Amino acid sequence: MSRSKVTVVGAGNVGATAAQRIFDKGYADVVLVDIVDGLPQGKALDILESGPVSGSDASIVGANSYEETAGSDVVVITSGIARKPGMSRDDLLLTNMKIVTSVVNEVVAQSPDTILMPVTNPLDAMAQRAYQVSGFPKQRVVGMAGILDTARFRTFLAMELDVSVESIDAWVLGGHGDSMVPVVGSTIAGGQPVSKLIPKDRLDAIVKRTQDGGAEIVNYLKTGSAYYAPSAAIVQMVESILFDKKQILPCTAYLDGEYGIDGLFVGVPVKLGDGGVEEIVEFDLTSDESAALQRSADAVRELVEVMDNAGG
Ligand code: APR
Repeated sequence: MSRSKVTVVGAGNVGATAAQRIFDKGYADVVLVDIVDGLPQGKALDILESGPVSGSDASIVGANSYEETAGSDVVVITSGIARKPGMSRDDLLLTNMKIVTSVVNEVVAQSPDTILMPVTNPLDAMAQRAYQVSGFPKQRVVGMAGILDTARFRTFLAMELDVSVESIDAWVLGGHGDSMVPVVGSTIAGGQPVSKLIPKDRLDAIVKRTQDGGAEIVNYLKTGSAYYAPSAAIVQMVESILFDKKQILPCTAYLDGEYGIDGLFVGVPVKLGDGGVEEIVEFDLTSDESAALQRSADAVRELVEVMDNAGG
């Protein structure tokens, strides 16, 4: 059986770490692409040379062009600039829009049947852009954000309750920004709603810390943004697609009326399989949660309008 093929565009912190994680698992050959001469080649060779020790027989190559990426099953897009302290994800909008536009054009020419996984921020707007530029059906563009936001939420809830992170089932929906929506009503620990286990003021603080989770890391790092948790989240999505696991995961998907949102990428529960987004799962939200999701979608729509007005 031949291995799957995964391309990762952007050999920076998020891209190279995702490439390393996928290579380590051994089930996919990896192509790492970056605009900087030598960077993807050097990192790919370094990762390849870890294979004899880690036990991976997969291949990984680096390139500054796209020929090597032909026929990829999944293309993860991490190219772009990252946040520095004091910047919001939205501050990256127009720079990253241009990068994502050119990258998607190149990728699609080589892999017309691939599944695109934008990761570059601001994520929801970049997914919208990738969808517009690729001309792909909505099922084959799916952004990574919700698993990361949810992982942060689960980490903080597990710390609070002193239980395994695996015992926490949580959902964070909406745009990947300040208005993201940790859905407390659907968040349970060992079968019990967390709202019954954690006092309201503590739970509110955990929700806030989740919403600010990216900034917390940026403030520590100062020169860039998070990449270990983001790359782990990428790998979970890649696996659900390559192995057709049909996991239901919070991902950024194109909504066609679901949740009352039309024509926009927003984070929602998605059934993710080898067809990409196979279903949007509609939760019963409380009226507060539903209103928060609409506000979050409005924030995404504003960014999309700025992009549309900027052209390019
Ligand atoms: N084509 C290919 N690669 C590009 C291009 C391009 N047109 N433009 C920039 N890049 C590359 C850069 O050369 C760099 O190596 O993208 C890489 C980005 O890496 P980092 O600066 O380390 O950023 P990273 O932390 O990986 O974040 C990338 O993901 O999580 C988001 O907000 C984050 O938008 C940011 C993206």
